[in-house]
Amino acid sequence: MSIIAIAGSPSARSRSNALLRYAAQALARQHGAVDSLGLQDICAEDLVQGNYAGQDAARLRQRVAPARVVLIATPVYKASFAGGLKALLDLLDQTALAGKIVLPLASGGSAAHLLALEYSLKPVLSALGARHILAGVYATEAQVRLDEAGQAQFDESIRERLDAAVTAVSLLLPAREPHASYDLGRLASRLQLAV
Ligand SMILES: Cc1cc2nc3c(=O)[nH]c(=O)nc-3n(C[C@H](O)[C@H](O)[C@H](O)COP(=O)(O)O)c2cc1C
Repeated sequence: MSIIAIAGSPSARSRSNALLRYAAQALARQHGAVDSLGLQDICAEDLVQGNYAGQDAARLRQRVAPARVVLIATPVYKASFAGGLKALLDLLDQTALAGKIVLPLASGGSAAHLLALEYSLKPVLSALGARHILAGVYATEAQVRLDEAGQAQFDESIRERLDAAVTAVSLLLPAREPHASYDLGRLASRLQLAV
C-alpha cells in the first residue's frame, strides 16, 4: 500500500503541514509507511521555471506514481491555494492523479476562504486525472495552535473532521492484514453467531 503526503506550505511552522502530519500518522498506523514530500524537494529554480525535464521533477513523478492515496496540504494565499504547490503540481504528468484517492487539507487565516479547496485546488487535482477527491478539511489559524516546538493542538471540531477524513480514506483501502486472513468460523464463534 502506498500513501504519499505532499506539503504545499513553504513555512517551517506550518499549520497546513500539521493537518497533513496528523492524517499521515493516523494512516501510517493502519496502512504502513507514508512517503512525505514538499516544496523543499524541488530546487527553487526548477519550481519557478517549471522545469519538467529536471532531475527533481523526474524524482517527484517517480514518487507520486506508485501512490494509491495522495494527501495534499496547502495554505490559502490570496484566496487560492499556494503558488508553490501549483508550481510543484505543474511538474507532474497530465494524468498523474488518475486512479488515486486524494485528500486535500488547507489552513487559512480565517473562514473567509473556506471554499478555496473547492474552487481553486480541486479543479487542478481534477485536471491531473483525480476522480476520487474526498471532501477535505479546512482549518483556520485559530483552530490549529502551534507550540514553541511546532507541535499542533487542534480544536475538537478539526480533530473530528481529520479523524473522519482518515476513516474515509481507510474505508477505501485494504487493511494492512489482508481480509482473506479472517477465519469466518472463528469470527462467527467470537461473535456467537451460527454460520
Ligand atoms: C502571502 C499570504 C497570503 C495569504 N492570503 C490569505 C487569504 O487570502 N485568505 C486567508 O484566509 N488567509 C490568508 N493567509 C493566511 C494563511 O492562509 C494562514 O496563515 C495559513 O494558516 C498558513 O498556512 P501554513 O501555516 O501552512 O503556511 C495568507 C498568508 C500569506 C503569507
